[in-house]
Amino acid sequence: MALYVIIVRLLVVAAVASVLPVPGRAAAGAGAGLAIGFYNETCPRAEELVLEEMRDIVHEDKTLGPALLRLLFHDCFVRGCDGSIMLKSKSKKGERDAMPMSASLRGFDEVERIKAKLEDACPLTVSCADIIIMAARDAVYLTNGPRFPVETGRRDGKVSLCEDAVNDLAPPNANIVDLKTYFSVKNLSWKDLVVLSGSHTIGRAQCVAFAADRLYNNSGKGVQDPTLDKAYAPGLRELCEPGKKKDETKVEMDPGSPDGFDLSYYKNVYGNRGLFVSDQALLDDKWTQHYVARMAAAESTEEYFQDYAAAMINMGRMEVITGDNGEIRKFCSAYVD
Ligand code: HEM
Ligand SMILES: *[C@@H]1O[C@H](CO)[C@@H](O)[C@H](O)[C@H]1NC(C)=O
Ligand SMILES: *[C@@H]1O[C@H](CO)[C@@H](O)[C@H](O)[C@H]1NC(C)=O
Ligand SMILES: *[C@@H]1O[C@H](CO)[C@@H](O)[C@H](O)[C@H]1NC(C)=O
Repeated sequence: MALYVIIVRLLVVAAVASVLPVPGRAAAGAGAGLAIGFYNETCPRAEELVLEEMRDIVHEDKTLGPALLRLLFHDCFVRGCDGSIMLKSKSKKGERDAMPMSASLRGFDEVERIKAKLEDACPLTVSCADIIIMAARDAVYLTNGPRFPVETGRRDGKVSLCEDAVNDLAPPNANIVDLKTYFSVKNLSWKDLVVLSGSHTIGRAQCVAFAADRLYNNSGKGVQDPTLDKAYAPGLRELCEPGKKKDETKVEMDPGSPDGFDLSYYKNVYGNRGLFVSDQALLDDKWTQHYVARMAAAESTEEYFQDYAAAMINMGRMEVITGDNGEIRKFCSAYVD
């Protein structure tokens, strides 16, 4: 809890230093209209209720924590953090229908479950977009990561387009130049990239997401990725053997601690045991490599946890809808067509 207090203090100091009109409230520009504790008056128990439900959800199935964190990434990068990842499309033209990036997304029913609880407590008040970021924040906390404040006050978008998901999400075989571009077009920095990629310290990935690039057909040449740690590769090949094992077989992204939010992601990447090309690629840029090396050697998680909290604020401000725009839906996964 001490860390939480420190982070809140840092945020307040930052807010005052940049002469914001109201402490804790985002200034004009990115994230205008968001605030820490936006529901203080309109739904005072909102954050507590989300955490309560998240505890039940991950207790029932621990793989859902990572899934909900990933859902936030996909919501925010595609048309902003506006809950549009939840929308369904009968004609299969929505964000959720984008292949292959969205095919393995999970956690939709759980967002709906949290939403139902909030609808009971405060009808038509808390947006799906805010539920997604609060659930993701709690997923980090419930895997022994930090608990940090997130801004709320987002409203839900009504548009969900498959092509946005195809265009705006980096594929797992993206190189460092492309990764930095995917982030910078969304106003996120190399630091946000390297810090948020550390989310892969929890969760699991299907073989189809990495096996060809890393194990069997690197650069289309029918070989194993020469940068992959030679001692790490055989175990992965065993899990993802083509033909014998299914592409959907899941592999721990951080072997041994897939449900522990810690620094081992950076130790792995530094030791050439990052799972995706996009993880390994963090060693191909001076600044991201420097950060990976420093976190791999860090004795405490304190700096990383602070960086993570700040990066989540940044990502959470992406193209948000606030004020009277957008809507507060009763059901997050409504049909758009
Ligand atoms: C930098 C570019 C990124 C790429 C290319 C990428 C790619 C992927 C891929 C391919 C998977 C495996 C999905 C599957 O096979 O089921 C995955 C999983 C995951 N990603 Fe990322 N990701 C990126 C950034 C992020 C960010 C920014 C976050 C969160 C803030 C995130 C959080 C996660 C989590 C938690 C999982 C595990 C999901 C689960 O266990 O169900 N990723 N990512
Ligand atoms: C909500 O309450 C918290 C804790 O007292 C405070 O830090 C925050 O600034 C408040 N937010 C708003 C928008 O009133
Ligand atoms: C990035 O920031 C610029 C300048 O503040 C703004 O005009 C633009 O809409 C932002 N883009 C995104 C994707 O947030
Ligand atoms: C390897 O990649 C190349 C180029 O993308 C492709 O033509 C070839 O079919 C792939 N081989 C296998 C075994 O998937």
